[in-house]
Amino acid sequence: MEKLAIDGGTSVRREKIFYGHQWIEEDDIEAVCDTLRSDYLTCGPKIEEMEYTLKMYTGAEYAVAVSNGTAALHCACIAAGIGAGDEVITTSITFAASANCVLYCGARPVFADINPKTYNIDPNSIRAHITKKTKAVIAVDFTGQSVQNREIREICDEYGLIFIEDAAHAIGTKYDGKQVGSLADMTCFSFHPVKTITGGEGGAVLTNSQELYTKLALARTHGITRDKNMMEDDFHEGSWCYEEITLGYNYRITDFQAALIVSQMKKLQKFAKRRKEIVKTYDEAFAALPEIIVQQEIPESDTCRHLYIIRLDLDKLVCTRREFYDAMSAENVQCQVHYIPVYWFPYYRHLGYKKGLCPQAEEIYKSIMSIPLYPKMTDQDVEDVVHAVNKVTANYKKI
Ligand SMILES: Cc1ncc(COP(=O)(O)O)c(C=O)c1O
Repeated sequence: MEKLAIDGGTSVRREKIFYGHQWIEEDDIEAVCDTLRSDYLTCGPKIEEMEYTLKMYTGAEYAVAVSNGTAALHCACIAAGIGAGDEVITTSITFAASANCVLYCGARPVFADINPKTYNIDPNSIRAHITKKTKAVIAVDFTGQSVQNREIREICDEYGLIFIEDAAHAIGTKYDGKQVGSLADMTCFSFHPVKTITGGEGGAVLTNSQELYTKLALARTHGITRDKNMMEDDFHEGSWCYEEITLGYNYRITDFQAALIVSQMKKLQKFAKRRKEIVKTYDEAFAALPEIIVQQEIPESDTCRHLYIIRLDLDKLVCTRREFYDAMSAENVQCQVHYIPVYWFPYYRHLGYKKGLCPQAEEIYKSIMSIPLYPKMTDQDVEDVVHAVNKVTANYKKI
């Protein structure tokens, strides 16, 4: 058996590989530079082009480009009319933003549990958490796999709830043949560098509702409109006039970020294909390891996977998750853990949330880690990651 690097052996890789990385090429750089040389750095034509590209790709009727995925979620909550006294059901195995956006609106996030096989929010648990105060559901396409759209839609229709899909991980994924982005009342994307395509930062909200679109656009830009049909006051001195008709924010994205996103959108198919290939290689390699449990997928989801999670069967190993993680790191394969249950954080604890709310989420959190997955990985990189998982597992497996 190969001696682990953490015990003084030779590491699988000489250079560290991280769990995610962007892929920027010369044409992306040119697209940004062209925009920097143009008249518009913000509020210009690249924003419209980004919105048009997202609409065409997803099939959604409307798109609002914003500064990041968190802003997208906040705008969606504002457009949904979420406010003090409301409850919004979401998952805890997510980035904090999926729940923080509810707090921004003065409402209360309520955490439903996850399905222990797919790690996505469990529609039965959503049902169990509905009260008279429930206003919306924020369902996260965790790792890129689509949530159970049909079941969640049915619940939302039955109780008159707004369905917000946090698809920060899921651009490129289809549910039942339809592109994520066209399904929920509002779908939020993030274009952070570890995501499938990037603008450095960036986000967008997609919707099929004109009413929601109008509210989203207002939320993005200070609640200001120049649309005469929306203005309240009859008297306007001149064409420079605009009105603030609601409270909004500055969540605008720049034109050079939008240019990068438009350029990256052209590569989405290529990126998705490579991600799928790597997922297939990992799935096949780990099928031979009883100590490693892989995420299961619902048949409706044709997934562009953002994260690849391995779950350790700790009963079959003599190590802790921490020891496995550190051993992988010593092999120069830098893993990450997605995610610590959101309500475990001190801020949430101080708001009164307690451990034990979501037993499945808490149980899964104890034994998961994300291994490297990004399209620029070479076959050698993928081989190294598989090698490291095999090596660490072999050293730690119970005999
Ligand atoms: C599930 C999820 N939602 C929302 C966000 C927030 O996106 P951003 O970082 O673009 O604000 C992230 C970012 O990591 C995320 O993973």
